[in-house]
Amino acid sequence: MNKMRLAIVGCGDIAGFTAWVSRLVPQVTLSVCCDVNEERAKSFAKRHRISQIFTDYSELLNKANVDAVYLAVPHHLHYEMIMSAVGAGKPVFVEKPLTRTLSEGKKLIQAIGNAKVGVNYQYRYDSGCYALARAVQSGALGKVHSIRINIPWHRTQKYFDGASWHKTIAQAGGGTLITQGSHFLDVAVWALNEQPLSATGYTTTPLFNVEVEALAHGIIETQGGTLISVVSSMVAATEQKVTIEAYGEKGTALYQDLPWPSVKFVGAKIQKEHPPERGVHALQRSLSGFANWILKDKPFLTPAASTLPVLTAVDGIYQSAVTGLRFKVES
Ligand SMILES: NC(=O)c1ccc[n+]([C@@H]2O[C@H](COP(=O)([O-])OP(=O)(O)OC[C@H]3O[C@@H](n4cnc5c(N)ncnc54)[C@H](O)[C@@H]3O)[C@@H](O)[C@H]2O)c1
Repeated sequence: MNKMRLAIVGCGDIAGFTAWVSRLVPQVTLSVCCDVNEERAKSFAKRHRISQIFTDYSELLNKANVDAVYLAVPHHLHYEMIMSAVGAGKPVFVEKPLTRTLSEGKKLIQAIGNAKVGVNYQYRYDSGCYALARAVQSGALGKVHSIRINIPWHRTQKYFDGASWHKTIAQAGGGTLITQGSHFLDVAVWALNEQPLSATGYTTTPLFNVEVEALAHGIIETQGGTLISVVSSMVAATEQKVTIEAYGEKGTALYQDLPWPSVKFVGAKIQKEHPPERGVHALQRSLSGFANWILKDKPFLTPAASTLPVLTAVDGIYQSAVTGLRFKVES
């Protein structure tokens, strides 16, 4: 097999972008799409020259001739859909987060064994985030005591009204922290390769008429004693650059995503490492990485189990925000 036939499940916002990006990944063929909204599935299929359409995911798993499924559906569907795909012997590329809750994530990892399930936390393949993470992992920055993450993004009520699952904890699991902030929190905990030990958090919902938080401030203490602080926001008046700052004993790494992804190392001469996949966009590299995992068994940067630490961090911040107390993670 030198091409991976992929089924896209959920033909909404991110699926459209992934479908465009897949044209830049030669080892991927989009052969099938599926959405409960038939009109959406049909227009998606037409736009992306996909020949087979389903409106029922179980039917797709039974009948479609594909090598893997890409799940781009609301968070509350991730657990069941991954389990069904694994049961049908299909590898899965699921959109972040792995599951809506940490408990679902833990149960899933227990259940899937060695099945290939990858998560699209594509910032691990972003050139700047990757270089920052490798500088931490290789020890080039020395012991890292502090990481500061700022995500000052902008959303409108239309964002929630257009895809109403984003509004509720039951369907989304939370707001800006799990949906947007977890991308960059994932980069930090992955870079450190340490479990979260405790969390303190504060969440609030200015501006929008929704249940989930639109602004979250949190602090994670890791097992190695590093403090990660994160501000994840949908309430900036205009979207500003994302920054990650990692402060080590030998040097500092300063990442920003705009005007293009970049990292600057200060205080130490550090060789910048490039992501292991080629491509102009992190999502392109992430999809390419997943395909090479399936086709050639090449290591993929984001297997499902490696994303449990970020779910643990997110869960800890939410638990603390509810109780007003520092939340200690069970070991
Ligand atoms: N990686 C990224 O940068 C990125 C960006 C945006 C969203 N996402 C993630 O992608 C996922 C989807 O988000 P979105 O913004 O595209 O949502 P969306 O609401 O735009 O699209 C979801 C689609 O799933 C369909 N759907 C719902 N139930 C279904 C079912 N049972 N079977 C088949 N289709 C079903 C809906 O009809 C809809 O078309 C989420 O996990 C989200 O966090 C990732």
